[in-house]
Amino acid sequence: MHPELKSKVMTAQEAAALINNGEILGISGFTGAGYPKVLPSALAERAEKLKAEGVDFGISLYTGASIGDECDGVLARAGIMKMRLPYQSHADVRNSINKGQTEYIDMHLSHSARLIRMGFVPKPTLAIVDACEVTPDGKIYLTGCGGNTPSYLQTADRIIIELNTHYADTLIGVHDIFIPELKGNVPIYSAGDKIGKDYVQVDPKKIVAIVEVNLPDSLKAFAALDDDSNAIAGYILEFLAHERKMGRLPEDLPYQSGVGNVANAVLGRMAKDPMQAPVALYTEVIQDSIFDILEADKLIVASGASVSYTISGQEKYKANAHAKNWKNKFVLRPQEISNNPEVIRRLGVISMNTALEADIFGHVNSTHVNGSRIMNGIGGSGDFARNCLLGFFMTPSVAKGGKISAIVPMVSHTDHTEHDTMIFVSEQGLADLRGLTPIKRARLIIEKCAHPSYRPLLQEYLDYGLKNSVLHTPHTLDKAFDFHKRLMETGSMGV
Ligand code: COA
Repeated sequence: MHPELKSKVMTAQEAAALINNGEILGISGFTGAGYPKVLPSALAERAEKLKAEGVDFGISLYTGASIGDECDGVLARAGIMKMRLPYQSHADVRNSINKGQTEYIDMHLSHSARLIRMGFVPKPTLAIVDACEVTPDGKIYLTGCGGNTPSYLQTADRIIIELNTHYADTLIGVHDIFIPELKGNVPIYSAGDKIGKDYVQVDPKKIVAIVEVNLPDSLKAFAALDDDSNAIAGYILEFLAHERKMGRLPEDLPYQSGVGNVANAVLGRMAKDPMQAPVALYTEVIQDSIFDILEADKLIVASGASVSYTISGQEKYKANAHAKNWKNKFVLRPQEISNNPEVIRRLGVISMNTALEADIFGHVNSTHVNGSRIMNGIGGSGDFARNCLLGFFMTPSVAKGGKISAIVPMVSHTDHTEHDTMIFVSEQGLADLRGLTPIKRARLIIEKCAHPSYRPLLQEYLDYGLKNSVLHTPHTLDKAFDFHKRLMETGSMGV
């Protein structure tokens, strides 16, 4: 290592001592990939000691999206996370937010970096980044995510690097760092186009510490494919094949697939389908199902904001990055580019996201249980749902062993309006809502997507509205939240 950089190498504890009370930390990390792994624990220990001495300590945490327990979990449990944005999915962070101990701004992921650069939310004072490599002239090569890291490195006054040898050089050259202007276009015309640099350039004087690590992202393995996910994946693939047959869907449109098991299942099934042509992804999160597609030799290119691989997935990628040239099949971008509305619309992306609940008129709640309790956040679902060519919202028709219906009369919180949703899919069936009036949408959603045990109650609500309300969107506000009220009073939405 260059002597100038070597002089900045220190332990995590020494680096944590450089972090002040009230600091705004802009850190790397996106859906469990590429986040700092040792500094947060050292910071939590430091805060513990200060607390014992009667000194208050707290930080704000900005990331790309959700990150691992070594960071989100550790800082939330230490009680020092005063503010969090723009997305999380950790149980301890969620609890801290819902108890009012952590303030949370839930944002469209494509918006967050721009809002920070423009100063609508305070800029980070310190950037902490998981990196593969750093050069004396200030080139930083990122690990498993683009996320918001380039903007945090650009706007923060000081930088701490966790120099992580885990990925060796297998992610160097994969990144495409491009920060858009306020005006002007993002010139991506095909999912694999590269328009930026493969590193982030910073002023090397801003680097105040380098902590050496060799650690993987600690993502858990996916649950075995359950019947519901399998059924949902089947309906989507059948529908896509039908649309192609009708001449409404070219073969070569790129896919976006949301977080979680169902999204993973759809791509997994595509890999196994002998009729499936090679696919390109213009997505946010690249998960382990990509390996099935690669092994079936069906991947054109995968563009995303992160490679969120399980530990065995990371090993698989590293083993094949050079050996099978997998490295050239990926492009990692800042999230304002991976989720860029202009590019999503231009490329004609087919988008698949998961809903927490959906209502009979076509609105979707992705984020709030009973309208108030945050689950994770909107993430990139809005970036894709509003701008895609064809958009699916998927959900099992019931949750909590049937006590909750995912189809309700009126969603208790709205993330995606009737104007942005197109196709709903549950394990019961698929409802194509495009071009339908609210009443026709309601009939189709009840028939195709609701669980049979909830269909009569939903139909009763619709019939009551048709008799007692106006006939455009026949909601009746005295009964619109009966499902949610029953859940709160009796523990079940059913009667
Ligand atoms: N009311 C209350 N709880 C519900 C519910 C509802 N209507 N529907 C599901 N749940 C519960 C489940 O029971 C489960 O609880 P558990 O963790 O205690 O078992 C939990 O919510 C997660 O549900 P699950 O069916 O496992 O779905 P998931 O892991 O796929 O998550 C979302 C679903 C909506 C929370 C998740 O997809 C998300 O955060 N989406 C928003 C962000 C996004 O779409 N990002 C992708 C853009 S690229």
